Amino acid sequence: MTVPAHRFASLAVHAGQDADAATGAVIPPVHFSTTYAQDGIGGLRGGYEYGRSGNPTRTALQTQLAAIEGGAHAFSFASGLAAEDTLLRAVLQPGDEVLLGNDVYGGTHRLLSRVLGPWGVKLRVVDMSDPDAVRAAIAARPPRILWVETPSNPLLRITDIAGLAELGHAAGALVVVDNTFATPALQQPLALGADVVVHSTTKYLGGHSDVVGGALVLRDDALAEKVGFLQFAVGAVSGPLDAWLTTRGIKTLAVRMQRHSENAAAVAAFLEGHERVARVYYPGLASHAGHELAARQMSGFGGIVTVALESGAAARRFAEATRVFQLAESLGGVESLVNYPDAMTHASVRGTEAAVPVEIVRLSVGVEDAADLLDDVEQALRV
Ligand SMILES: Cc1ncc(COP(=O)(O)O)c(C=O)c1O
Repeated sequence: MTVPAHRFASLAVHAGQDADAATGAVIPPVHFSTTYAQDGIGGLRGGYEYGRSGNPTRTALQTQLAAIEGGAHAFSFASGLAAEDTLLRAVLQPGDEVLLGNDVYGGTHRLLSRVLGPWGVKLRVVDMSDPDAVRAAIAARPPRILWVETPSNPLLRITDIAGLAELGHAAGALVVVDNTFATPALQQPLALGADVVVHSTTKYLGGHSDVVGGALVLRDDALAEKVGFLQFAVGAVSGPLDAWLTTRGIKTLAVRMQRHSENAAAVAAFLEGHERVARVYYPGLASHAGHELAARQMSGFGGIVTVALESGAAARRFAEATRVFQLAESLGGVESLVNYPDAMTHASVRGTEAAVPVEIVRLSVGVEDAADLLDDVEQALRV
């Protein structure tokens, strides 16, 4: 990088974004070409040969991702699940086991249980925020991978990443953190000892609900070689325009996460004081079991608030009654969204050990005016 900037918000803007050498364009061009002219057979310019193996716009995003997560290598994929699948297949052999947080994105559980399970990958589920439970699970049978989301989805449990990394490494396991909810603006898992960071860049990194994507960031060169080979050999890469949109989103990540966190704190405090609300899950609240750990481990509490109403019916009614919060899957965009996990994002884990309570609604709090958001949840609670 030619710009001498190394703090988070500056890296997010500048890493991988050198001005175009030919024209001086401050925004590097989007490279759509699928193939690259060679100067004699094998004479590649900059190592580019074919779009699946490499693309300058994807390289720019990968450089930016590695910089903001403090990794040595980053890989960008067509979706978060494509990134997860590539990592899992790069690391696991038939018979290996994954120890998975009990409160992770339902699609991660589905990928492991229904896609990789039939290929011989084993799965055990544990509450990763409970170190005794993790210790006991590891002692019973050492897993190949510990996989955690913190804050988790949708109950926003907080796991001590440094502590988990110590437990995992002592057992010879790879420690993977899905950092989609916190983002590197608020939490840096590699610095805390994790081996790999996973993202659905569809969420906060893209930030505008207009591009699906995923990423892996890691330090180890040997693992990077395996992941890079599989990314090339299987080919679930991000397209150039998707990579460019994600890069553009990341440039404003620091300011967006600050505003998401402020608005979410206001919504959580309002809901906590409301008579129709049974419980609010938000790591920024002093009442949250993981509050102190989150305050140590994160530099902000993020934009997701989960709320329990008095019944499943009340939760469904609330989710269908908001107007500024739109009823939709996904999260992390500038616009506020409401989701009923049991029938939407987590429908695939209904009836499993990863099932979510029917009384809860998950709010992805956007960057609108907080007063409009409070008015909206207030009117929806009265319906
Ligand atoms: C925490 C988390 N990880 C991974 C994924 C999967 O990402 P994608 O939908 O981009 O494949 C999601 C999707 O909702 C998610 O919320």
